[in-house]
Amino acid sequence: MNLNVHLIAAARPNFMKVAPLFHELKTHRWCEPRLIHTGQHYDANMSDVILRDLGLPKPDFHLEVGSGTHAEQTGGVMIAYERVVASNRPDAIVVVGDVNSTAACAMVGAKAVVPVIHLEAGLRSRDRRMPEEINRLVTDAIADVLWTPSPDADANLIAEGISRDRIDFVGNIMIDSFMMMREAIDRAETRKSLGLEGQKYVVVTLHRPSNVDTREALGPLVDQLLSVANDIRVVFAIHPRTRKRLLEFGLAGRLESGAGMLLTEPLGYVEFMSLVTRSTAVITDSGGVQEETTFLGIPCLTIRENTERPVTVTHGSNRLIKPADVVSAIREVLAGRWPRGQRPDRWDGKAASRCAEALHRRFVR
Ligand code: UD1
Repeated sequence: MNLNVHLIAAARPNFMKVAPLFHELKTHRWCEPRLIHTGQHYDANMSDVILRDLGLPKPDFHLEVGSGTHAEQTGGVMIAYERVVASNRPDAIVVVGDVNSTAACAMVGAKAVVPVIHLEAGLRSRDRRMPEEINRLVTDAIADVLWTPSPDADANLIAEGISRDRIDFVGNIMIDSFMMMREAIDRAETRKSLGLEGQKYVVVTLHRPSNVDTREALGPLVDQLLSVANDIRVVFAIHPRTRKRLLEFGLAGRLESGAGMLLTEPLGYVEFMSLVTRSTAVITDSGGVQEETTFLGIPCLTIRENTERPVTVTHGSNRLIKPADVVSAIREVLAGRWPRGQRPDRWDGKAASRCAEALHRRFVR
């Protein structure tokens, strides 16, 4: 029997979660993984470059849904994916992460009575103002199987009444991607191509609506970054959402002319991780980057009030920082007063093989 498994990928952070699982499942004769791209992210450097970096093939189905309001995007994905399920009915659907397409495809699967598996289940920020928190709650409530990255996620699910036998603690799949690509990452030398050889630098990524969608939030953050750039070079890889807002709020010029500031387009996976592995610190509001820096023991300043990945703070090198405290936190890093932390359990590059084992145990045996 060949298990037809749909792997749903939609937005930049999904590709790093799907790739190791896709490659792993391809090695098993009992499984036929199919890649579904919803098209939530569509710019080359938000999608195709990353797919290529991770050795993923052209998707089996591309839904080309694109941008829109939350309802437009979620509804668009549901309509398009329902058609795919009708024409190519899967034996199981794996949704990853917490983007709009994750919840949308989980709902389609659950209503078509196809088993839904959530990879990266159980994370909670407990902040319902965050669209991702709503996506996590919806997806976990209707998924049949929950694959978790850390024990805090298991505890969250159990506290919400999900029975233990539906949960598999598989570990952190993002680390599989990093280990899979480690040689290419080491060879990439993004520092050199950006003219940063021999210099210390901080990497910045920001895209959360709470940080970038209002002038009141984004303006002071830009000021802090300009001040940091007086102490150490700053490389800011600008997300399309953020670029739009910088232009709209008239902040782009000030940022561009900042001494010590280097602005780039969003980078490919290998290029970006090459930059991060050699950085002094990272300033971010991304979920995945909090995990990657914890794995690498690189100081991470997360510009958020909360995190759905608390293990990166309790075990790792991540700290939640208020926008006004960015400059002083970077000085702490430069003074060598930042804990390196340790790697959480099962962040070991073997999550994909645990997923495959769980899939076989649950659906084939
Ligand atoms: C989405 C996810 C977020 C994830 C992030 C990673 C949701 C609710 N949010 O946020 O969890 O951390 O992806 O990047 O699912 N745009 C482009 N080109 C693209 C994609 C987007 O220009 O390829 C622009 C569009 O103007 C779009 C805006 O960026 O309206 C936001 O894109 P969207 O996918 O809605 O949300 P993200 O901010 O990327």
